[in-house]
Amino acid sequence: MEIIVKDSAEEMSKSAARVVARALNAKPNAVLGLATGSTPLGLYKELVRLHVEEGLDFSQVTTFNLDEYVGLTRKHPQSYHYFMHENLFKHINIPKENIHIPSGTTDNYEAFCAWYERRIVELGGIDLQIVGIGTDGHIAFNEPTSSLGSRTRIKTLAKQTIDDNARFFDSADEVPIYAITMGVGTILEARKIILLASGLNKADAVAQAIEGPVTSMITASALQLHADTMFIVDKEAAGSLQMAEYYEWIQAKMPDAP
Ligand code: PGA
Repeated sequence: MEIIVKDSAEEMSKSAARVVARALNAKPNAVLGLATGSTPLGLYKELVRLHVEEGLDFSQVTTFNLDEYVGLTRKHPQSYHYFMHENLFKHINIPKENIHIPSGTTDNYEAFCAWYERRIVELGGIDLQIVGIGTDGHIAFNEPTSSLGSRTRIKTLAKQTIDDNARFFDSADEVPIYAITMGVGTILEARKIILLASGLNKADAVAQAIEGPVTSMITASALQLHADTMFIVDKEAAGSLQMAEYYEWIQAKMPDAP
């Protein structure tokens, strides 16, 4: 695992955007896995800037989002369809048909989840997956005790996640209880994974994901099993890491590495 600690959330976002841009330059038809929430907003802003000012091209890119709330229509301001459209897709030149976001309103979730998994495989698999982390250590909506082999499915949100996400709704009662989410097993099949985290409230989850045991209680810890994972975190989110000095030392020495 590569652990990169940045001074600020802004630096974290720019660093992640550089990795995405490098991936697209190397493979213009890359398949990206995308996340929602507050954390990737700076990354999307920087990708939009790179598109507008430097011509970063998304015309051949395909995307798969991690999750969606069950019951929210695409037009609902808190749906992840709406979030992705507003914060990224409407500002870049990605063809509509290349965008995949789990449906929160299908009448056959089982069939939809199976199709979503099939579609990822049909398009060659995810080259680069962006994930955030919940304060309870979740990746996507894989809440504590989610199987580390899980696939795209309906998941009940944890109370902690509902409380965390209530800030986007008028009240906690309005946060949907169910979500459709890629599984941990689905995420682990991506060729490269970047986990982003910023802020003090993520410090314990980040430390447990990186330095704790691999456990379904912290589904982000499953990333320890992945051969090409980067954690890009700001100083606050790195605050509980025991080996923080070592990670910074590695980064400083990197240019001289054999
Ligand atoms: P956040 O959510 O970026 O809004 O903190 C992260 C997550 O729950 O994965």
